[in-house]
Parts: sequence; structure tokens; C-alpha cells
Amino acid sequence: MRGSLDPEISLEAKLPSTPVQVFGDATQLHQVVMNLCTNAIHAMGGKGTLRVTLETAEVSAERPLAHGAVAPGTYARLTVEDTGSGMDEATLGRIFEPFFTTKEVGKGTGLGLALVYGIITDAGGAIDVASAPGRGTTFTIYMPRVDVAVVADDEKQGPVARGHGERVLVVDDEQPLLAVTAEVLSRLGYEPVPFSESQAALAEFEAQPGRFDAAITDEVMPGLSGTELAGVIHRHRPELPILLVSGYIGPMMTERATAAGVNEVLKKPVQSREIAAALARVLATR
Ligand SMILES: Nc1ncnc2c1ncn2[C@@H]1O[C@H](COP(=O)(O)OP(=O)(O)OP(=O)(O)O)[C@@H](O)[C@H]1O
Ligand SMILES: [Mg+2]
Repeated sequence: MRGSLDPEISLEAKLPSTPVQVFGDATQLHQVVMNLCTNAIHAMGGKGTLRVTLETAEVSAERPLAHGAVAPGTYARLTVEDTGSGMDEATLGRIFEPFFTTKEVGKGTGLGLALVYGIITDAGGAIDVASAPGRGTTFTIYMPRVDVAVVADDEKQGPVARGHGERVLVVDDEQPLLAVTAEVLSRLGYEPVPFSESQAALAEFEAQPGRFDAAITDEVMPGLSGTELAGVIHRHRPELPILLVSGYIGPMMTERATAAGVNEVLKKPVQSREIAAALARVLATR
């Protein structure tokens, strides 16, 4: 962050002397930190102090937060504090909504904090926020801590498989997760076409079935399930690779999904690396 800061904004980073490990996706966690710092810098309008602290925290009894609560456990706690404009109650109540922004048209998408919320809660973490007009803002992220460095193992797997502009239909009724998947795919070099409603995705697919190179769909959605959607897509384009993402995977559902034309079933929460590998695998066997 430091290199891109205004000279009148000082960055005070407080990091622990020994590494703190959490279980999560490095790309997504990087995005969380960047989104929070970008918001903080924007709120300070060129002048102030940005304080970023990473520490360990033991929570012995459930602790209520501004949104939800943090369960007892051992955590890595990240605090991003700014001396900027702060927020009033009305703004505070809406900050995690997708597309909520107070920035000018064309400046903000309003997806930054929705992404942060999706990433953190999906990884079993929690978010707290404290703010008042003129008094600055503090975001606190709790991530469950792990003792072993799983990351080292992951990095040994070599480079992440990348796409080459393949157009991927992405369907998930949970907006923040949809935004995360779409963002991950575009970083990987794919061209995601996101839909939060399976019916709308189907309508778009049926209008132009030749437009897509692959599809990734959530299973549990209102209206048309992922398996049902896969079935229709498969009938139109039997060679089109389809990935199904689900919180629960059993032999029955895998069997049904395979029968519908699904190439691979991935278990939620899906890591960027898994999506990358699965997509590259199914695209290679086209
Ligand atoms: N540190 C902060 N200080 C003051 N207001 C904030 C801060 N962080 C977020 N907000 C408020 O929350 C709104 C939503 O933030 P979010 O990151 O989701 O979207 P955005 O920053 O407006 O757009 P984008 O992230 O796409 O650039 C902001 O428009 C702003 O009003
Ligand atoms: Mg933002």
C-alpha cells in the first residue's frame, strides 16, 4: 500500500513478530485488505493516519458485533483504522449491501465491502465496524486461527492454471459469492458472465448458446437448481464443460449431477486454486 499513498497520509502498520496463520484463500484475503485500505484512504481525502494492525485474539465467550457475533475461539484479528470522514447510522446500516455506495456515479461499484463480507463469512470469520461522522472508522476482521502452515503445501503445487479469455457463465444466488467468483475468474484470465438468478442465466444461455465456453453454477438456488440448469445447458451443448458448486456433496447428488451433464462437483467454500484447476481440467478435455 505504502508506495501509492498520498504524502500527507501516514501508514502505521503493527504486525506480530511471528507469523499468524489462518485458513483461507490468499488471493481473496489480499483483496479484503486492499478493499478496506482503499476505502479508508478514500475517506481521508488525502490527509490522515491509516493504522493497520494484525494480532492474535482469544475470544472466550460469544461477543456481539455490529453485524452478527464472533464465536468463542482463537483468532487472527486484523484492524484497519482511519481518521477519515466516518459514517452516520444510515450509511453504517447498508455498507455490506452489494452495490451500496455513496461515491459518485462511475467512481465506486459498491461491491468492495460486499466482497469483504462474502469472503470473511464464507471462511468462518466475522466483521466488526465502529464509526461516527467526523470521528473516523475502524473495521475489525476476525479469522479463525490455525496452528499449522497449510499454505506452504499449497504453494508447492506450482503455478495456478490460467484462462485465455474463455467466456464462463457463472451462476450463484448469493450476490457476494457471485462477485467473488467473477473477480477470481477475471484475475485468472477468463471472461466471467455472472447471474444471480438461474432462470435469467438460462434465458441468456438459450438466447446465445454458442457464446459460452464453460459454466460454473451453485447447486442450491430458488426456482431452478444448479443440476436442473446443467441439464438444460447439457442438452443444448453436450460438449460444454459444467462445474457444480455445492455446500453438501453426497454420492446421490454427485450421481444426479453427473447424469445431468456436470463434469465436476466442487465443495464450498471453493478456493481460487481449485476453481482454476477444475476449469483448466474440464476445458482441456473438451
Ligand atoms: N473507511 C470508511 N470510511 C467512511 N465510509 C466508508 C468507509 N468504508 C466504506 N465506507 C462507506 O461504505 C460505502 C460502501 O463501500 P464499498 O467498499 O462497498 O463500496 P465503494 O467503496 O463505494 O465502491 P468500490 O469499493 O467499488 O470502489 C462507501 O461508498 C462509503 O460510503
Ligand atoms: Mg470500496
